Parts: sequence; C-alpha cells; structure tokens
Amino acid sequence: MTAALCLPFSSAQAKTVIEVAHTQMETHPDHIALLAFKDYIEKHAGETYEVQIFPNKKAGSNEQAIELLRAGSIQFMIISSANLEPYNRKYSVFSIPYLFSTEEEYEKFITDPDVIEDLGSRNEDDGFTPLAAFTAGSRSFYAKSPIRTTEDLKGKTFRVQNGRTNKDMMDFFNANEMTISFGEVYSALKKGLIDGAENNELALVEQKHGEICKFYSYDHHQMIPDLLVGSTVFLYSIPQDDYEIFRQAALEAQQVEFTVWKDSIEKAKKSAAQMGVEFMEVNVEDFRKTIAPIHEYMLKTRPEIKELYDKARSIGSQKADKK
Ligand code: GCU
Repeated sequence: MTAALCLPFSSAQAKTVIEVAHTQMETHPDHIALLAFKDYIEKHAGETYEVQIFPNKKAGSNEQAIELLRAGSIQFMIISSANLEPYNRKYSVFSIPYLFSTEEEYEKFITDPDVIEDLGSRNEDDGFTPLAAFTAGSRSFYAKSPIRTTEDLKGKTFRVQNGRTNKDMMDFFNANEMTISFGEVYSALKKGLIDGAENNELALVEQKHGEICKFYSYDHHQMIPDLLVGSTVFLYSIPQDDYEIFRQAALEAQQVEFTVWKDSIEKAKKSAAQMGVEFMEVNVEDFRKTIAPIHEYMLKTRPEIKELYDKARSIGSQKADKK
C-alpha cells in the first residue's frame, strides 16, 4: 500500500493518509484502541492527517505488514512483540515463560515508558519504533484433548508465534511446535496439522479456535504484549510537533485498550463456554518448574536482554520485599 493523498472538500490543501494495520477482528480491544488513536490524531492534527485503519489482515499478515511498515508503505501497526524478535533480539525478553508472577507485574512493566524508550533506541536499524504497549493477557495451551500436566504436552504439536524463544520454550517443554501465521491457525487445526495452540481466550472465539479445541488449560505460561509501532522512516519525516501528537495518541489508545481488555476476556470466556470449551485449572507450579531453566538459557544466548530482564524481575521482588 502507498500513502495516498486526499483532498478535503473545503480546502485545496492535501491531507496525508495514515494507514494503520492489525490482524484482529473489529471487536478486539486492539481495534477499539485504534479508534481512539484515530480520534486523537484527527482531533489534534485533522487538517494534516486522515487515519485509515485496516483490521483483520486487510493489509496482510503480521509478517507481511511489518515489512510494509519498515519500508514506509504503511505508517503504524499493532503487532505482538514476538513477531519483532527476528529483527531485534531485545524483544525476546517478553516471550520468556513465567517472566512475571502476576498480570499486575506484567502490566506495570509494559506500561513503563522507560521500557518502550529502551526498545525504541535502536529504531534506525529495526525500521519500526514502538510507541505504546497493549496488554494481551496471558497465554495458555488449548487443544483437542485435555492438557492437565506438562506430560500431556509431550508427543503433541502446538502452533506457536514467531520467534526463536517460542521454539526454545517448546523444546524445554519437550513438545513439538509449528510456527504458523496468526490467521492460518484455524485452518491448520482443521486440517489436523497441529493438535493445539496457545493464546489468550479471545482467540477461541474471534479466531474460532474453540470450534475445534475444546480444552483450555490455565497454565499462563507467557504474557506477551501487543505493541503499537510506527514506521521509523515515516516518523523521521514529520515535524517534531506531529511526532508528539502521534505519541500522545498512542498513549491514549493504550489507556482505552487496558480499560476494555478485562471485559472482553470475560465475554470471550462466556462465548467460548457456549461453544463447548472447557476451562481447566492446572498446577501452574508444575509448568513453571519444568520450564524454569529457560531463564538462564535466555540470558546466556541473548545477553542483550539482560537490562530489561532484570527490570522485569525486579518488579516482583520489590513487592516481595514489602511483605
Ligand atoms: C494474540 C496477540 C496477537 C498475536 C496472536 C498470535 O492474539 O494479540 O498480536 O498475533 O496472539 O498468537 O499470533
């Protein structure tokens, strides 16, 4: 896609069209947040910019859209940090299983402006610049047959997101994995290429995975944010004042996303239950212990994550110290 120009009725001055992509449905919190992003920009710089949102893979899969964004053909997108790991290994920190003990710790970390700033500091090489992080809840395994313990993962093949860390995670779990683009998971389940997947509860309903996978096990193995990223070429091409408007718009979108998230999850759980999905509590400690050695392995093989890793871990220990 190319940034088109459109003429407003009342003036001959051309507006720059800002194209924003994501792969979720229009009911997803990411999309609702992007409506706020659009509103903010058009309210504060509507004479210069018109924002167009392309949901549900209309601008391609995550893997395709990030390339369009890096080339400057689209200006913003929402993408899981897992998809950014191949470009910059620092992003792998978010994919470390059980990096956090609670969702509150995770939310505190991803909304820390220093974390986003740190990731954006190598933006010239990456071609994308993160402006805000959205919660995507916690990820758990779901499959066609029940996963009650880590033993039940063995011998089964699960779809995982992009990035080396996800493959490593499955190795540490002694299970097989297949990296499949988000929009292709349903058909892979249907064709029997995989036995299950792992995600938050929304995927059961919006991506219809719950039609095929009837057992969702709350092991909470990862908490991986979605990031609102801008094209670095684009962000470098605009005046500083405009950059500040986009940055504020991203923070506004972040607030909206966090506000609607919990309610969306509750609704998704109800809808999934109506589809016949059984939600199972499992022994999280069993999962955590099985995979614990991956932390040391990650720090050894990706030394560039050290600072962010320590920051993330310190949130939990600060709380423990206060007790
Ligand atoms: C979640 C997340 C997406 C991601 C997807 C996936 O739905 O919000 O950004 O693409 O998981 O598993 O690929």
